[in-house]
Amino acid sequence: MILSDDFISEIKEKNDISEIISEYVDIQRKGRNMMGLCPFHAERTASLCVYPANGSFYCFGCGVGGDVITFLRLIEHYDYIEAVKYLAERVGMSVEVSEEENLTYKKKLLIYEINRETAKFYYKCLIGKSGIKAREYLSLRGVNNNMIKRFGLGYSPNDRYSLIDYLKKRGYNVKDIMLSNLAFTSRSKKEIDRFSGRLMFPIIDVRGNVIAFGARSLSGEKPKYINTSDTLVFKKSSNLFALNFAVKSGKQNLILTEGYMDVVALHQAGFKNAVATLGTALTPFQAKLISRNVEEVILSYDADEAGQKASERAIKILKDNGLRVKIISMPNCKDPDEYLRSQGKNGAFKFSSLIEKSKNDIEFKLENLKSLCDISTSEGKIKYLTESAKILSRCKSTIEREVYALTISSEIGVSKEIISIQINKYIKQNQKNSLFKEFKNIEKSTCAFNDDINKEKRNNLRAALAEENLLSCVINNPGLANTIFSKVDENYFVTEFNKKIFICLKDIKSKGRKLDISTISSYEFSVKEVGRITKIICSYNSYMGQDEYINENISILRQEKEKNRFQNINNISETEIQNYIKKLNKS
Ligand code: GTP
Ligand code: MN
Repeated sequence: MILSDDFISEIKEKNDISEIISEYVDIQRKGRNMMGLCPFHAERTASLCVYPANGSFYCFGCGVGGDVITFLRLIEHYDYIEAVKYLAERVGMSVEVSEEENLTYKKKLLIYEINRETAKFYYKCLIGKSGIKAREYLSLRGVNNNMIKRFGLGYSPNDRYSLIDYLKKRGYNVKDIMLSNLAFTSRSKKEIDRFSGRLMFPIIDVRGNVIAFGARSLSGEKPKYINTSDTLVFKKSSNLFALNFAVKSGKQNLILTEGYMDVVALHQAGFKNAVATLGTALTPFQAKLISRNVEEVILSYDADEAGQKASERAIKILKDNGLRVKIISMPNCKDPDEYLRSQGKNGAFKFSSLIEKSKNDIEFKLENLKSLCDISTSEGKIKYLTESAKILSRCKSTIEREVYALTISSEIGVSKEIISIQINKYIKQNQKNSLFKEFKNIEKSTCAFNDDINKEKRNNLRAALAEENLLSCVINNPGLANTIFSKVDENYFVTEFNKKIFICLKDIKSKGRKLDISTISSYEFSVKEVGRITKIICSYNSYMGQDEYINENISILRQEKEKNRFQNINNISETEIQNYIKKLNKS
């Protein structure tokens, strides 16, 4: 192995974990550690803990954790080698890796390369002879040549073999073309192009790699759009179309739409910060990705009922991830593309004023609610008042609540004080609910009720806790490791998961490697498991290194082991039972 433990240690020493993590999240010092909002799940109170002393992090909310390499793998979707390379380059070290270690990394580079060649090929087809229909289609939809160039739009020929031929001639083999999801094997066992007769939209990540394609049918063939399926370099639910442009636009916000064509039309009108999801509902991961680049999202989904429902869901996800949200409404038009076209030359100006008039999430929800209530009747008024108080109870700013309460009061003719009383009632209720939820979560985690990493912990709580104490002790005091190994072996471990860690620690120690989370991660543990191990390590306290404490935990393991054995009485011989009874009588 060329990436030696020493090399990895040096990289980690030179790259301070809190410095790297603070490039993604605000973290604040709390004693020796630092806390911040976890970037891997939606939350409002900080549960991500960074431990600079041992170079690890752990989220008490979602259970991810590990070292700085794990952090980068999770947040950037790097593989191991990519993360190491990134960190090495950051501090001016160079990495030489073995063939085997390089394999996935090389495959990824190859897919990027094939994708880039393919984008060029499709572009040439679009501007060439075979692309005449596609060009006509684009001009019918008002897309100009600058946009074709900017997005590198393309055309995939109808014949189903052009792309494979082209790439083969350039020295790529069919297996790798299929790995890029640009070809597949047909029923008659022939390799054919995946995309044919479609308008092609290259999807480019913020680092400038072509990671996938969106493809629109031109003939009315269904489905209207298809995408590259997930590959080593692409996950549909984790990327956005045109984010590469939006982050370079220099704007502090972006315009989020549903369609490729909406993005093209908006860019053509000068809105260089427009992006789109890739044919699926917005995911928390996409929201995270956005929140790493801007602070505000202007939502411009389709005006139909489906679009409005999708807006409500997107608002929640965006807000949960700390983004400010504004919502555009387009009167009498289906989507931004249609709106811009319907306004002709004034499109850009008109859309700007839609942005200016856009509502915040509270206004959007109140307005939707109002459209559902007939406020000329008492019943409608009551519904509007009750539901709007619920909406406002979730609004953080007192001032905002006051302002909206005043508006509602004058709309309905009920005093502002009454509305405020109702809002406060719901605020108290929300607080009670969230406290109750928090309490339930603590209850669950202390009795390991829903523990899906160490499934046996729930039924063997006492043993599992003693096991964890010993594991933590070994990792935090490598000097004590041999003493502990001589007093207790893996057969005393009741839960399989902790046993596996114990065996791993013994192996690490016997090979003279460094006992830390990075070495442990190089064994077969999943990301969640590494998170759990980090938690075990970080729960260490100096008194845990004392002899008495170690002996106490070892004796707990012995007792529990004995107890478990006697639970299954059939496994035990008569003499053993008699001996045990004698022992009990003595003590
Ligand atoms: P245009 O007709 O090209 O303007 O598309 P649109 O954006 O107006 O269409 P629509 O609102 O139907 O779709 C919005 C987005 O959803 C598209 O840009 C695609 O990303 C996605 N989409 C639409 N139809 C399909 C489909 O049949 N399959 C898949 N996978 N995605 C689709
Ligand atoms: Mn459209």
